Amino acid sequence: MPLHIIIGAQWGDEGKGRITDLLAADAQIVARYSGGDNAGHTVTVNGPAGPQIFKLHLLPSGLIQPHVVGVLGHGMVINPARLLEEMAQLRGLGIQVSPERVKISYAAHLITPAHIALDQADEAARAEGEGKLGTTGRGIGPAYTDKTARRGLRAELMLDPERLGDRVAEHVAVVNDSLKHRYGQSPLDGPAVLDGDSIAADYTAHARELAPYLAETSLYLHRRLQEKAVVLAEGAQGTLLDLDLGTYPYVTSSSPTSAGAFVGLGIAPQFAVRIIGVTKAFQTRVGAGPFPTEAFGAEAERLRGTGENPWDEFGTTTGRPRRCGWLDLVLLRYALRVNGVTELVLTKLDVLTGLNSIQLCTAYQANSQTYTELPLGPADLAPFRPVYEPMTGWTEDISGARTLADLPPAARHYVARIEELTGVPVSLISVGPERSQIVLAD
Ligand code: GDP
Ligand code: IMO
Ligand code: MG
Repeated sequence: MPLHIIIGAQWGDEGKGRITDLLAADAQIVARYSGGDNAGHTVTVNGPAGPQIFKLHLLPSGLIQPHVVGVLGHGMVINPARLLEEMAQLRGLGIQVSPERVKISYAAHLITPAHIALDQADEAARAEGEGKLGTTGRGIGPAYTDKTARRGLRAELMLDPERLGDRVAEHVAVVNDSLKHRYGQSPLDGPAVLDGDSIAADYTAHARELAPYLAETSLYLHRRLQEKAVVLAEGAQGTLLDLDLGTYPYVTSSSPTSAGAFVGLGIAPQFAVRIIGVTKAFQTRVGAGPFPTEAFGAEAERLRGTGENPWDEFGTTTGRPRRCGWLDLVLLRYALRVNGVTELVLTKLDVLTGLNSIQLCTAYQANSQTYTELPLGPADLAPFRPVYEPMTGWTEDISGARTLADLPPAARHYVARIEELTGVPVSLISVGPERSQIVLAD
């Protein structure tokens, strides 16, 4: 029963995509189970003409491996126009995208331009400073709101393109009313009223293109698992962005944690054998919300990188600079516990090369007390100050390391200390963005 679940153990962008691509070599199916095109998963693969960089938002990262079938599960919210664009982009990069290789759940929900307008209007109307959530503006929150309010547009509607068009026109009319009621003339710079007829016509056309990809993905996955196929569930976002388990309200609107994989794919928990938690060797966050170990000034700049390289800390989806800081083991232990992580993958260890000293947050302090666990979960982190254990840095280039023995002693010690303080073994360490830049640690 080989279901392997890959989850982000931080605030997203841990490197899940590149790890999914790597592990997909030994899988038959890779399935996304939550989120939408708020995700941005970068995979770098060396080819004869140099490195090829893939940026995936909706399609599973496993599709870069030619033998893999990709599934977009029940738990996702899908913008059909963006999906068609991404399919065309991948085809342009030589990846086969066909209904045999890509299966979309009938129960996934569709995002429309009206959801995007609502998302952006709501964010614009939030008070400056702590009021803003820093959403990606992709319509994620409003699409999940419609889903839970039981008025959402499910992907199965694409089987009847005319009916979908009618439903979209009704939905746009409702959103127009809501925007007008809430904001008068739209707070956006764009048109105040969305054109329902033209959006409906677009959705009818998208449906004609995408209908062949619709499938009973829950049954498909169940049957393949019973046949002992290896299924990788590819998480998007991260534990601390989970609607229930994250730093609420600075979260996304879905369930990126391991439990989300079961609902989001329609498969049962007994299939899971490995739960792989991906964490950076430091900590980043894009968007608003608490971040106890956040670094500022030159220290933050150093961790972020210059932006000249595609792997530096700028959002894959939005291009926003990511907030950077030191690895927070209080939050990591929490994430490993709520996901039931069986093995840790540590990414971007190479970024720490050259630092004189590296800080590792092992506990928090508040009211003269030391905390190694969060008394009330991660939502209110304001009272806590990080307690750091200074770690010795290293200067050797580690980007060519492939075994633990290739790493300098200080880097090995850093990894060992993380294992010791989390109680979870590190199975892989990435030392560069390219597929082969991986240390097998167990
Ligand atoms: P995801 O959303 O979890 O898939 O992560 P992203 O792709 O958004 O962000 C991770 C970034 O780090 C990407 O630009 C990757 O190319 C890059 N990356 C991944 N692993 C490594 C690594 O080991 N070293 C370096 N330098 N970059 C990496
Ligand atoms: P991947 O899969 C990092 C963040 C946004 C914002 C919050 C809510 O690449 O790791 P939303 O648009 O979802 O309503 O925004 O969640 N966020 C992410 N941050 N990586 C992601 O995905 C994210 N998806 C959403 O920045 O703070
Ligand atoms: Mg990302």
